Amino acid sequence: KVYNNYFFNESAYDYHDGGYIPLEVSDAPESKLNIPEVLKPDKETDTDIWYTVEAQPGETQILPGKKTKTWGYNQSLLGKTIIYESGKNYHVTLKNTLPELTTFHWHGLDVPGPYVDGGCHAPVFPGKPSEINFKVDQPAATLWLHAHPCPLTGWDVWHGLAAPVIVKDQEEAKLPLPRNYGVDDIPVILQDRTFDENNQWNYDKDYDPDGTEGKTALINGTVNPYFDVTTQKVRLRFLDGSNRREWRLHLSDDLVMTQVASDGGILPEPVYMTKLMITCAERAEVILDFGKYKPGDEVTLYSDDTPILKFKIHAFAPDNTEIPDQLTKIDYPEVDPSAPVHQVVMSGTDEEVEINGKKFGMMRIDDRQELGKTEYWDITNTNDCCGGMIHPYHTHGGQFKVISRNGKAPYPNEHGYKDTIGVNAGETVRVKMRFNYPGIFMYHCHIIEHEDGGMMAQMQVWTKDDPHKKYKLMDMKTL
Ligand code: C2O
Ligand code: CU
Ligand code: CU
Repeated sequence: KVYNNYFFNESAYDYHDGGYIPLEVSDAPESKLNIPEVLKPDKETDTDIWYTVEAQPGETQILPGKKTKTWGYNQSLLGKTIIYESGKNYHVTLKNTLPELTTFHWHGLDVPGPYVDGGCHAPVFPGKPSEINFKVDQPAATLWLHAHPCPLTGWDVWHGLAAPVIVKDQEEAKLPLPRNYGVDDIPVILQDRTFDENNQWNYDKDYDPDGTEGKTALINGTVNPYFDVTTQKVRLRFLDGSNRREWRLHLSDDLVMTQVASDGGILPEPVYMTKLMITCAERAEVILDFGKYKPGDEVTLYSDDTPILKFKIHAFAPDNTEIPDQLTKIDYPEVDPSAPVHQVVMSGTDEEVEINGKKFGMMRIDDRQELGKTEYWDITNTNDCCGGMIHPYHTHGGQFKVISRNGKAPYPNEHGYKDTIGVNAGETVRVKMRFNYPGIFMYHCHIIEHEDGGMMAQMQVWTKDDPHKKYKLMDMKTL
């Protein structure tokens, strides 16, 4: 079965918002799609790997003429791809050479909070490196690293602080999927920016409390990109790294996308579709099969009606591998029926955004869950005015399993592990969630200006031996 419609309803699309900025095609020349290099370890043994990740300012040649002032991890814009192998121990030195503090948040990584997780309680100050140590123990997935200082996440990410993180494991390695990084397996980071006449970005000028958008698509930091296809099948690891924009993806000739993974890993079954909508911070891995094309052909990826990435077909060897009907099994633990159901109500727009009637308080713990227990979380979006808007809900601290949308089945591509989910206006999404590490974890709308504006809360995952463990929390006032 091939799905030919977006799973979300048109009435909820971001372009119903008064501040929506449509994408425009830039008159810049075509450039080769930037593929971030893989970050090299400083040192490694059979069990342990050491990395250094540096948040740095720089300048990037994005358009002809003046370079754009940008920020990045170990490079001037975005970041090198970090590859983690499940089962290994990591020691990561975090360096900051920016003019201000930042944090290093591992979105989707199953690690203790709040310091390793890298939310707002884990500042790294300029010139004062810190080190985090953790074990990676989760299924293969596409995750990401981004800055998360509150309330300046929007500012940091807009400047470029976002990098792909790929987790590998032995189960995924056995599946017949492309995995030759940079050749047939590529990250595709979807972002949008407006360039001024000096080729600069102006966050303050473009700022919108309902989510900042730009008019030019920026794919892996490239404007008007093309990718040279040299294999019949290509795996795209889509990441919506935009502050606000939803991407409604489809290809010329309605070429089918086979989605094989969502935020937290491989889907139980592949989902075949010609249209895929991805909301802020979500990931989707899709396989494209270019078998019917010949050298010289071009295939174009669009978001709505705007071309955003061109695939130039070169000669390739035939590839008859088939994607299996069953990719993996998701064994999420059962919920204890006596456990209370957590409630998260996202309300308001612009400056009025809240969770459960409150704005984020850095020193306040809003909810609690015991380590290792699986419990339901009901996530509600009460916006109903004027078609309402989708709030992409995200929780730190692990992956959840989507149970239902307003009591009905989740969308066909939501049967795997997720850490972010687009909640429609007037909808309650029920998920079940289990935490594997203790700590303080944030949960919030991933429209980054909503998060910065207070549509965020935090919970404590507690353990029996120290149920009210005190963590040093960063007070917003000290910023
Ligand atoms: Cu992707 Cu709290 O973050
Ligand atoms: Cu996160
Ligand atoms: Cu929101």
